[in-house]
Amino acid sequence: MKEIEEARAFLEARVGRHPRLGVVLGSGLGAFASELDDRVAVRYREIPHWPQPGAVGHAAELVFGSVEGRPVAVMSGRAHLYEGCSPAQVVFGVRVLARLGVRILVLTSATGGINLKFQRGSLVLISDHINLQGSNPLVGPSDEALGPRFPDMSEAYSARLRGVAREVASELGIALAEGVYAALLGPSFETPAEIRYLRAIGADLVGMSTAPEAIAANHMGLEVLGLACVTNMAAGILPQKLDHEEVLETGEMVRETLVRFLKAVLPRLEA
Ligand code: HPA
Repeated sequence: MKEIEEARAFLEARVGRHPRLGVVLGSGLGAFASELDDRVAVRYREIPHWPQPGAVGHAAELVFGSVEGRPVAVMSGRAHLYEGCSPAQVVFGVRVLARLGVRILVLTSATGGINLKFQRGSLVLISDHINLQGSNPLVGPSDEALGPRFPDMSEAYSARLRGVAREVASELGIALAEGVYAALLGPSFETPAEIRYLRAIGADLVGMSTAPEAIAANHMGLEVLGLACVTNMAAGILPQKLDHEEVLETGEMVRETLVRFLKAVLPRLEA
């Protein structure tokens, strides 16, 4: 695709780095980007065709840097379908990173907790997803240069990487649960009836992102690690209303743990 190539060429000329590790930071979880060594940040609006995220709590820059000497590219802020971005725009950054050489992608997200074992602030490894967004970033003419028409999704979230993440969490004494992520379009939060339905079909977490990026990454042959932060319990679980402020506040609350975990896990992900 011409747009992907133009963005790749721009970053090649401007930064010229080829990390094998990529990270996408979700709502309120941007702190990690400022902790990188050898930082070079590029604002999304400078990169040709790169979509501009609008959600509060999202920065809008691509940061190249390193963690323990390991090069990494970090998307601080992502585009969402609920902003009116097309599915192709939502996965644009992931595709450009893959073209630059990223082979392992860590997707972080703010999520609502459906599983009653979770609580606000829990960190959860995504074991699988249920895509209920009503769209798929691969819809349209098949571009064989990116990947196959019908990509396998039977291990969308790498079992190998999950194993490494569990190991690192236990070494650090960080509690790390595991669960299935239901992706909804948003932007309204769910109703209590929708949450009961999601629980019945096997979802532990609910969010408005991640699935498109995981699909596009698998399509291009990347390994994916999904890391969710339960920023609030889902609708109807607690006798209180949901609001985006709580999502951002929880991001702030887990900031130190998440940064510590990412710093330890990223250098260990490469085979
Ligand atoms: N629902 C959907 N997306 C979310 C939630 C939620 O409760 N919390 C954070 N992102």
